[in-house]
Amino acid sequence: MWPYETPIVWQAEDHTVWMIDQRYLPHREDIYVARSYEDVAWAIRTMVIRGAPAIGVAAAMGVALAFRDASTVPVDPAARQAYFRRVAETLRQTRPTAVNLTWALGRMERVLEAHLDAPPDELFRYLRTEALEIQVEDVVLNQRIGEYGAQLFQEPAYLLTICNTGFLATAGYGTAAGVIRTLWRRGLLERVYVCETRPYLQGARLTMWEFLREGIPATLITDGMAGFLVQRGMVSAVLTGADRIARNGDTANKVGTYTLAVLAHYHGLPFYVAAPYSTIDMATPDGIHIPIEERDSREVTHVMEVPIAPEGTPVWNPAFDVTPHELITAIITDQGVIGRPIPEELARRFSTPANVAPAARLE
Ligand code: MRU
Repeated sequence: MWPYETPIVWQAEDHTVWMIDQRYLPHREDIYVARSYEDVAWAIRTMVIRGAPAIGVAAAMGVALAFRDASTVPVDPAARQAYFRRVAETLRQTRPTAVNLTWALGRMERVLEAHLDAPPDELFRYLRTEALEIQVEDVVLNQRIGEYGAQLFQEPAYLLTICNTGFLATAGYGTAAGVIRTLWRRGLLERVYVCETRPYLQGARLTMWEFLREGIPATLITDGMAGFLVQRGMVSAVLTGADRIARNGDTANKVGTYTLAVLAHYHGLPFYVAAPYSTIDMATPDGIHIPIEERDSREVTHVMEVPIAPEGTPVWNPAFDVTPHELITAIITDQGVIGRPIPEELARRFSTPANVAPAARLE
């Protein structure tokens, strides 16, 4: 049994990285052991580990692994930078949408640059420490998100969510699921409805596993049931995570999120997005410019390896969609709630580098 409340653990004894293999949950709690940055890249690409903040932590640990073995780390600073770039590019190319991955690699690069001339073992220690700090920091940020998010609710809520945004998708606690956890612990959650999240079933497999473990009152629905659920008055707010929030607030998240936002808008329900600052990408102007990952057609034609469509069925399988900021009531961040007008509020709160530097985040 996986004993941790985080999906990824650095093993100090032998410097390997352990992950709970999310491909097989909830049926099996297998552990995947990564010994190299290539292993980490493979694990991200194949969804052993997934969720925007979690793949950021994994990428950072992947970089540290690449610098573990002194015999493979170039001594010359220029060669070292080139080696880093190769490692970072391999990790960056695994999944394009979640900006947390690029963000984490940026933090690792700054550590490399600050210690470019350090002996390899020292450099490795600095990089490993940074990766672990990214991990620890994310848990704190999520707890803050939970705190700010809970303040939006005065009455026990009936929530609707999608995908998995819990400890499996982050370094721990969760973003949207973190808000749900906080509400539950305060007696402010009546029930959360969880979309199964076709095609990869993160809602059914992962979120239900997390919520049932904790005793959170959760009900699984198929994605197509969301409309009827809302029409019947069974939901008081929709709450989701995010993979990348563009400068104007347009938000990429698991495919199906946009449908829920339109639904919430039509029925006059609040639509909240919860995410840490590492998901906010002020360099991308709007949703059109967010790269959307397209995944293998087999995820749609098969369910857990069982074929459900005729052979040769043409498929479109975008892993994410983009919700325009006009449909978002507020973005719950570790720095507080960003309300409307979202583009102006994001600019005000997140455009100065001091606001987003890690030192300003954790005192
Ligand atoms: O394809 P996935 O499972 O990595 O997609 C995950 C999501 O869309 C989550 O909602 C998002 O990463 C936020 S996780 C805190």
